[in-house]
Amino acid sequence: MKLPVSLFVFALLYSFLLATSAHTHENFLQCLTLHSGNDSISKVIYTPSNSSYSSVLESSIRNPRFSTPSTPKPLVIITPLGVSQIQEILSCAQKHGMQVRVRSGGHDYEGLSYVSPVPFVILDMINLRNISVDVENSFAWVQSGATLGELYYEIAEQSKTLGFPAGLCPTIGVGGHFSGGGYGTILRKYGLAADHVIDAHLIDVKGRFLDRKSMGEDLFWAIRGGGGASFGVIVAWKIKLVPVPSTVTVFTVNKNLEQNATKLLHRWQYVADKFDKDLFIRVLLTGVNSSQEGKKTVQAAFNSLYLGGKDKLLPLMQESFPELGLVSEDCKEMSWIQSILYFAGFPTGQSLDVLLNRTLTVPSYKAKSDYVKNPIPESGLEGIWQRLYEKEAAELAGLILTPYGGKMSEISESAIPFPHRAGNIYKIQYLVYWSEEGTAATESHVSWIRRLYAYMAPYVSKSPREAYINYRDLDIGTNNEGNTSYRQASIWGTKYFKNNFKRLVHVKTVFDPTNFFRNEQSIPPLSH
Ligand code: FDA
Repeated sequence: MKLPVSLFVFALLYSFLLATSAHTHENFLQCLTLHSGNDSISKVIYTPSNSSYSSVLESSIRNPRFSTPSTPKPLVIITPLGVSQIQEILSCAQKHGMQVRVRSGGHDYEGLSYVSPVPFVILDMINLRNISVDVENSFAWVQSGATLGELYYEIAEQSKTLGFPAGLCPTIGVGGHFSGGGYGTILRKYGLAADHVIDAHLIDVKGRFLDRKSMGEDLFWAIRGGGGASFGVIVAWKIKLVPVPSTVTVFTVNKNLEQNATKLLHRWQYVADKFDKDLFIRVLLTGVNSSQEGKKTVQAAFNSLYLGGKDKLLPLMQESFPELGLVSEDCKEMSWIQSILYFAGFPTGQSLDVLLNRTLTVPSYKAKSDYVKNPIPESGLEGIWQRLYEKEAAELAGLILTPYGGKMSEISESAIPFPHRAGNIYKIQYLVYWSEEGTAATESHVSWIRRLYAYMAPYVSKSPREAYINYRDLDIGTNNEGNTSYRQASIWGTKYFKNNFKRLVHVKTVFDPTNFFRNEQSIPPLSH
């Protein structure tokens, strides 16, 4: 049989690449064992020939879309036990041309912490998750491999009146979350997790172990919201804890279209960012079956946390959002830590131990984000409803609207790289899930969410159309592997960071001029 020339060249190239990567990875492993001497690094190295390789790889893959037989797999996974092992990994990876992907909680929406198009190693922070809370001085040190659940648990063990303004899902890793901003139910009162980082430990491309003082204010600025993976390996964060009252109140009021959901949501847009800072009301929109046989409707779930008792909440709601018709029976009073469980979807009375569970099983998904600066007219909302009735949205799809305002508007756009501050009424997260396997199912669901995103263009922020880095979305632009240009990166970079993108590029150019720490959406140094 005669192979066409192009196929022959491709086959040759492919076998060459395979041989080179096998060679690279053997040299890399040799380098590690050589450097570590009597060190225990061999116990935390997993190659495909190791029986635990698959379970370690899958342990924190949070989007099964990136766990298929055709997904590129790491040549090696290493779960370092300390700083010196991270330094060895970085040094050997540079010597032998291995790309490193750092993984803390594995929640990256596009799987960038555990997938790469080139031969790569995963540096998994799972063994570095110490947390020490200093109640007297209201701060904590938390290592990047800890989850938010572990952090919240530890804070609650030590104090009933301290909390932390980070995300809603307890399995999220501190490493990726803080470096991309990180918001939760108390963002209107306190801002983001990254706004509360007061020191950090990082290992840079030269293997130096740096703290805030030794890294300097530019790099310290960049890692608080500039996205993980561009500047080094963040080992630990020092965070300022915030006061929370001993009693908070939660409620979820569901309204469908027959119960005036469109008008209520329209009204919500005028008040959500102006409420008292202690009040957070987000809205979850999904298509559901109507009570009328064979018909569909949209459900708007008004899902709220109030930092105080219901005696204060009810008059406040009467004054600022009476249309919702909140009554005492809708409200549940609890401690702040119980509200963490409530928003994570656990039933009332569940033991706090669930916060220590690192497993999360969800179907494949695709997400996107937008910022809204002017209320969307009712006719615009009705166009969303039509899309929620389409067949791709049938399993689970929806929008989560998170109100801004309050403290979020008081912090300057350049205080940290996260720029979405004053002027934003709310952020939208679009989500679609599917359980069906195969590329056809993936394509149809991804296409559905892209159509919805295209429909939303007139109603959301423009020039740039802003997006949240922690809701990673490769649709908005990517770098070229091996040839990252400033111009190409600024397409996605200005959406995530607006004017802060330029300063991030400057910091990158100083601290990682060879672009060792890179992925499809990492900050490029200027020479590239
Ligand atoms: P992961 O380990 O995948 O890392 C994400 C990125 O950071 C990768 O590029 C990785 O290489 C890099 N990185 C990780 N650790 C690093 C380290 N130590 N040093 C340097 N770089 C590092 N967000 C939010 O703000 N509020 C919320 O409520 C939620 N809720 C939520 C729920 C669910 C189910 C998911 C899947 C995600 C969210 N998110 C969120 C988004 C979440 O904040 C975002 O995905 C974070 O980047 C996840 O951090 P992980 O460490 O888990 O991810």
